[in-house]
Amino acid sequence: MFVCICKGITEKQIKASVAEGASSVRDLYRELELGSQCGKCVGFAREVLTSEQAMC
Ligand code: FES
Repeated sequence: MFVCICKGITEKQIKASVAEGASSVRDLYRELELGSQCGKCVGFAREVLTSEQAMC
């Protein structure tokens, strides 16, 4: 499922980034450029990030 339509970033890619150490939306921005265009994905990306961190 796509989280960031503008950059074509999927939930799976976010989970992989968290597994590699990403711990904030800023990290996802740096690694994947998530949220670098319209920014509408940031809230959902944060939810995915938080739930993934809770599972670690
Ligand atoms: Fe992520 Fe637009 S949907 S920047």
